[in-house]
Amino acid sequence: CGIVGYIGAKPVLDVVVNGLRKLEYRGYDSAGIAILEDQRVKVLKSVGRLSNLEDKLASNTLNGHLAIGHTRWATHGKPSDENSHPHQDCSGRFAIVHNGIVENYLPLREELLAAGHQFSSETDTEVVAHLIEEMYNGDLLKTMVAVGQRIRGAYSLVVICKDHPDEFIAMRKSSPLIVGLGDGENFVASDIPAVLEYTRDIYVLDDGEMAMIRRDGVECFTLDGDPVEKEVYKVTWDAVSAERGGYDHFMMKEIHEQPKAIRDTLTGRLDETAGQVKLPELKLSTQEINEIDRIHIVACGTSWHAGLVGKSMLEKMTRIPVEVDIASEYRYRDVLHTSNTLVIVISQSGETADTLAALRDCKKKGLRVLAITNVVGSSVAREADDVLITWAGPEIAVASTKAYTTQLIALCLLSIYFAQVKGLMSSDDAHDWVTQLANLPQLAEQVLDTAPQLEKFAADWVHAEDTFFIGRGLDFSVALEGSLKLKEISYIHAEAYAAGELKHGTLALITDGVPVIAIATQPHLYEKTLSNIKEVKARGAFVLGITWVGNQDLAHSVDEVIYLPQQCAELSPVLTVIPLQLLAYYAAVARGNDVDKPRNLAKSVTVE
Ligand code: G6P
Repeated sequence: CGIVGYIGAKPVLDVVVNGLRKLEYRGYDSAGIAILEDQRVKVLKSVGRLSNLEDKLASNTLNGHLAIGHTRWATHGKPSDENSHPHQDCSGRFAIVHNGIVENYLPLREELLAAGHQFSSETDTEVVAHLIEEMYNGDLLKTMVAVGQRIRGAYSLVVICKDHPDEFIAMRKSSPLIVGLGDGENFVASDIPAVLEYTRDIYVLDDGEMAMIRRDGVECFTLDGDPVEKEVYKVTWDAVSAERGGYDHFMMKEIHEQPKAIRDTLTGRLDETAGQVKLPELKLSTQEINEIDRIHIVACGTSWHAGLVGKSMLEKMTRIPVEVDIASEYRYRDVLHTSNTLVIVISQSGETADTLAALRDCKKKGLRVLAITNVVGSSVAREADDVLITWAGPEIAVASTKAYTTQLIALCLLSIYFAQVKGLMSSDDAHDWVTQLANLPQLAEQVLDTAPQLEKFAADWVHAEDTFFIGRGLDFSVALEGSLKLKEISYIHAEAYAAGELKHGTLALITDGVPVIAIATQPHLYEKTLSNIKEVKARGAFVLGITWVGNQDLAHSVDEVIYLPQQCAELSPVLTVIPLQLLAYYAAVARGNDVDKPRNLAKSVTVE
C-alpha cells in the first residue's frame, strides 16, 4: 500500500495524488484522501485506479493545507469504497491511513462495539480510528502514544485531527515510513519516490518511532513519546532514473537495463589483474567464514528463484551445504541449524514482510544474517549483520527482472569470495571466474537482440491457455522464474517442470499444440534434456528451445530455437532468463494487459 501526507502552502491534493501516483508501482485496488478544510475533516475514496479518485476530486472543490492519502491493497475486507482508506471515527474528528496489519483488531473491535462505537467497514484500520477517538484527551501526541500501546502488529500509521489543523502524526512499527523535509512544508510517505519531486532531505523513521509534523518543523519520538534525534538522509538518485526512459513500459526499460545493472553490481568488486573478488563491505572475518557449516537462503518470489541458483553456486564453490526456503515457510517450520549457520536473506525491496520476519527470527536465535538487497536503507539492509547491495537501481515494474539478474551476480561474487577465503579456489580458476563475470554485461547485451524473435513467438501463441517450461539442473531453476514471469503479467497458466520428472504426471497434459519452452543450456545435461524434449514433441507439443550458439543439434528436435552466447553452467541463468522475460512481456502486451501493474499483485508485499 502507499501512504502520502502533506502540510504546506502548495495545492495539497495535487501533492498527495502526485505522490500516490509515484507509489502506484506497489500495486493497489483502491485509493482515498482526507483533507482538513474549515475545521472539518473531509474524506473521499474510490475503489479501482487512482484516476477514479481523481474523477471524484475533480467534481469537488476542496481546499486546505493539510491532507493525507492512501492506495490500498486489500488484506482485511474486500476492495470497496467502504474498506478504502482513510478511515474515520464516529464523530469524524480523525482520519487515518495505515499500512500493515493490526493483529489484535478483533478483541479491540469487540471492546469498542461494547462502548457504543459503530463501524462502517470490515477493516482493522477503522478499529484504530475508533480507538483513537475513545482514547483522545486533547493532546494528539500523548493520545497516539497511548494508542500505540494498545495495538499489536506491524504497521505504519498517519493520523490527522480536526482540532489540530497545524500538525499531524506518523508512526512506524515495522511497515516503512519516511518524512520528507521541506521549507515551510513537510511530507510523509511510505517510500521515497513519493516526495522526490519536492525534496531530497529525508528522515527514515526507524521501527518504533513516530513523528509530529508541522509546516515549520518535524519532531521525532519513540513510540513511548521520548524525543529522538534523527539524521537527515540525502537522496542522491535522480527522479529521471525512476521514469520510463523512452520505453512503453517500465518492465521493458528494466529488461534493457540489465547489462548496466550487472556492470554496476560488479563495479569495485572484481580485481581483474589479481584475479580476485573483493567484498570490502562484508564484516565477516576469515575465521567466521571458515567456521560456517551450513547456509540457509531465505526469500520470496523471484528472489527465492535467485536463491535456488545461489545454492548451486555456493555448494559447488564453497562445499558448504545450502538449503533454500520460501520465507513464509521457513518462519513456521522447525528449522535445524547449528550455531555456525549463516542465513542469507534475499530481497529486492528489503521490505517484504515474511523475509523481514524470518530475518528477525534468525537474529533472535543468535544466527548471523547476510542480506542481499537492492535498497540501501531498507529494513532488511539495516537489520542484517552484513549487506551486499545489488546495484540494479530502482525497479518499478511489479514483475522483477534486473533485480533477479543482479541477485545472481551478488550470489556468484559471494560464492567466489568465500571459496577464496577458504582456500578452495585455485588462482587459475579465480582468474577464469573474474574474466567470465567481467564479460557478462556485454553478453547480456547480445541476448537482448533476441527480442524480435520472441515478439513473433508471443504473437503466434497469444491465445494459449497453458504453457510448460522444462529444464534440468540450473535450467529448471530458471524455468521456475520464466513460468512465474509469464503467469504474473500475461495471466497465461504456466508450469515449470524438472524435465526428467515430466513422465511422472505432467506429460498427461501435453497435447497437440501445447507450447513448451525447453531450456537446454547445460552441456552436461543436454542429452538427457533432449530425450525429454522428444517426449513432449511426440505428444504434439509446440516447442521453443533455448540453447547455446553452435549447438545446431537442437534445431532438429524443436520448432524454434533461441541461441544464447556460450557461458559457464553457473552463470548461464543470467543470460537464459532474458528471453523468458521478453517472452512474458510480449505475451502480456499482445493480450492487452497492464504490464507494469498486473492485477492482484504488489511490488513490495509488506503484509504477511
Ligand atoms: C512481490 C513482487 C515480486 C518479488 C517478491 C519478493 O511478490 O511482486 O516481484 O519477487 O515480492 O520481493 P522482494 O522485494 O523481497 O525481493
